[in-house]
Amino acid sequence: MTAVSSSFVPSEVEGREVGRQRVSTSLDTNGIRTQFPGLANNWHYLDTAATAQKPQAVIDATVAAMGRDYATVHRGVYARSADMTLAYEAARRRIAAFIGAKDEQIAFVRGATEAINLVAYSHPRKGRVLLSALEHHSNIVPWQLAGWQVDVCPLTADGCIDLDAAERLLTPEHNMVAFAHVSNVLGSPLDVARAAEIAHRVGAELLIDGCQAVPRLPVDVAALGCDYYVFSGHKLYGPTGIGVLWSDKLDTLPPWQGGGSMIDRVTFEKTTYAPAPTRFEAGTPAIIEAIGLAAAVDYVEAIGIEAIHAHECALVGTLREALARKNSITLFGPENSAGIVSFAMAGVHPHDIGTILDESRVAIRAGHHCAQPLMEHLGVPATARASFGVYSNDDDVAALIDGLARVERIFG
Ligand SMILES: Cc1ncc(COP(=O)(O)O)c(C=O)c1O
Repeated sequence: MTAVSSSFVPSEVEGREVGRQRVSTSLDTNGIRTQFPGLANNWHYLDTAATAQKPQAVIDATVAAMGRDYATVHRGVYARSADMTLAYEAARRRIAAFIGAKDEQIAFVRGATEAINLVAYSHPRKGRVLLSALEHHSNIVPWQLAGWQVDVCPLTADGCIDLDAAERLLTPEHNMVAFAHVSNVLGSPLDVARAAEIAHRVGAELLIDGCQAVPRLPVDVAALGCDYYVFSGHKLYGPTGIGVLWSDKLDTLPPWQGGGSMIDRVTFEKTTYAPAPTRFEAGTPAIIEAIGLAAAVDYVEAIGIEAIHAHECALVGTLREALARKNSITLFGPENSAGIVSFAMAGVHPHDIGTILDESRVAIRAGHHCAQPLMEHLGVPATARASFGVYSNDDDVAALIDGLARVERIFG
């Protein structure tokens, strides 16, 4: 396991004043922040839902994999390549264990987008898929492109996927349900077990887009009951270019992309394929990225995903409370949103909010967040979104609230 300094150990820090707010958190974020070179100079990074900053341990692991230890995997007969193969497969084991999976059940892909494309294109029973109104474009467009008929599940008043409605909408014609575990705009968490029960009742499978859940909630795929679970490494403090497709039925999917590594035997007449997950990893894989993602998993586990979840919940509670007191602000999403808070300010475009906040070194996301159908549902062209990570703290919340007061003054 990667060495982690004692400053990462939850230390029951007392709640501190944040403007007029109090945040109660159990993580020593001052210690944690020193491990993230990207956060130097007191940058208030509130865009972790887009991509997480990287701890030094992940940077070090990727530098070693690309330098001192570098070689290809699976092919070399020399020791360095054999060692790299062991490291690559060890990374698979670490990452699989993190989500309660067996190593042969996870295929490395470029990210959640590629994982959903893989399932949408290679699924042997393409037909009707039920999506929800809050999905990221990467859980909409692949289904459309691959020729599925798309139905849409509405949301509850507070912005969660309405599973009662899903139950009413689903018919035996549906062979797939694909929902986000946590909305990237609203932070709405999904009751995956119930979604699985509803889907399976009509004979449909359930794909869960876990991009925003894996970095902030304990995830145990074996317990969730879904059929496919996907996520991207870069939102889990790991490198870009690596993600995971989990399924306990990977072997039932035919290969998607052809090339080296994914084969058993190739002739011009007929090619046979390697078993899963290798058959889904055509070409030279993302070796460095897989090792970097395993280091990220080590990092998160050393702190504890439960502690990270509790920490982000405290920050969300404080921010929502502060925003609710501002007359100019409309808050979106449920009270129990996971790590993500979206809002609008009357008469001010979210891009202007983002630009003015940037002058105070506060980085939020402004736009449609790759969820245009959700914007339509909310009746806005865009939202401002603050999202938290393990390193976020009360100072970030205070800086955001101060910055919004400045936006109000400028536009008031
Ligand atoms: C909920 C959700 N799904 C899918 C994606 C796509 O992830 P990637 O671009 O890493 O493939 C994102 C990224 O923002 C997301 O938040």
